[in-house]
Amino acid sequence: MKIRENVPISKLVTMRIGGVAKYVFELNKELEIIKARSEFKARGLKKYYFLGGGANTFATDEDFNGVIIINKYSDITIEELPGKEVKFTVGGGCKWDDFVDKTTEMGCTGVECLAGIPGTVGAAPVQNIGAYGQDVSKMISRIFVADFLTGDLKWIEADDCHFSYRKSIFNGKERGKYFIIKVEFILSRGEISGELYGSLQSYLDEKNITSREPAVLAEAVRNIRDSKLPDPEKIASSGSFFKNIYVMPEEIEDLDKRGIPHHGTKVNTGWLIEKSGLKGRDFHGFKISDKAALVLINDSAKKYADLERAVEEISEIVFDKFGFRLEQEPNVIGKEDRK
Ligand code: EPU
Repeated sequence: MKIRENVPISKLVTMRIGGVAKYVFELNKELEIIKARSEFKARGLKKYYFLGGGANTFATDEDFNGVIIINKYSDITIEELPGKEVKFTVGGGCKWDDFVDKTTEMGCTGVECLAGIPGTVGAAPVQNIGAYGQDVSKMISRIFVADFLTGDLKWIEADDCHFSYRKSIFNGKERGKYFIIKVEFILSRGEISGELYGSLQSYLDEKNITSREPAVLAEAVRNIRDSKLPDPEKIASSGSFFKNIYVMPEEIEDLDKRGIPHHGTKVNTGWLIEKSGLKGRDFHGFKISDKAALVLINDSAKKYADLERAVEEISEIVFDKFGFRLEQEPNVIGKEDRK
């Protein structure tokens, strides 16, 4: 385990916003979380936060007087199951996109449309990452966790994770309780059947690509993402900052009357932001991407306080125009302190 002291959180997260963390523990071995727990207690700390790749998290400006625990354990074990199925058991610290590569190299379908998403395998189930018609919850069979309060280790079955759009028990009712050690996926050799996500299909048509091989689709998705979404290595952002908004089924008629695009009960919130005239506009150093309106880019801001002001102002404008309240996707360290 690597222990670091007084680490600026802004250096750990892709939005580059956040005060100083008293400690960072980096875990490289599968069960090192047990040792981390003892260290946490021995140092008399009260607060902790589990961080993945930092692509969907930032922190308030106040110093975080606790420990940020980062899983770097990244082993992948592969087991061929009878028939076409393959079981992947993957350390939570594995880079998500490395895992996607491994699956597509083996000709497995299930996560190819999630190619190019930044972050780690351990963080993927927390917000149930999803893109281009797939979401990670469909492929997860179970998750191996440590209960940080009791030190107990256990498997949680996918059904008990209560997955929904960008939601699970890990960012919901059990927030902060479980440290994700490794994730088990069951994928199938083969190809996606049925309709593809609209913009993915259009891209393939444009390029005259008819193959649906997982590696081909993964490559296509990476290209689409590259053309729309900022590369967090180069441009500070945390991907989609705002979530798409879900309405009640009885509200769909009203959406249609008002000409608001939606996919079932999911309102295309990027459209609301775009039609509010906000694309490319700057708010306190944060710019709404001119390519993807759900994305907020940190152009020149240094403070969380500026982000809060920017979000408030953007939300107000959209609310005044359309009557919908925007919802933020990323997590904020320091706002929802653990224990
Ligand atoms: N739209 C606009 N203007 C925009 C963006 C979107 O009008 O600037 C409308 C259009 O009607 C478009 C629809 O929204 O047809 C859907 O847009 P898009 O396919 O680009 O996806 P999104 O809703 O903006 C979501 C995810 C992305 C994911 C894409 C593709 C969320 C919060 N975001 O974005 O995920 O890559 O779908 O599946 O659900 C992320 O979570 O960080 C992320 C990038």
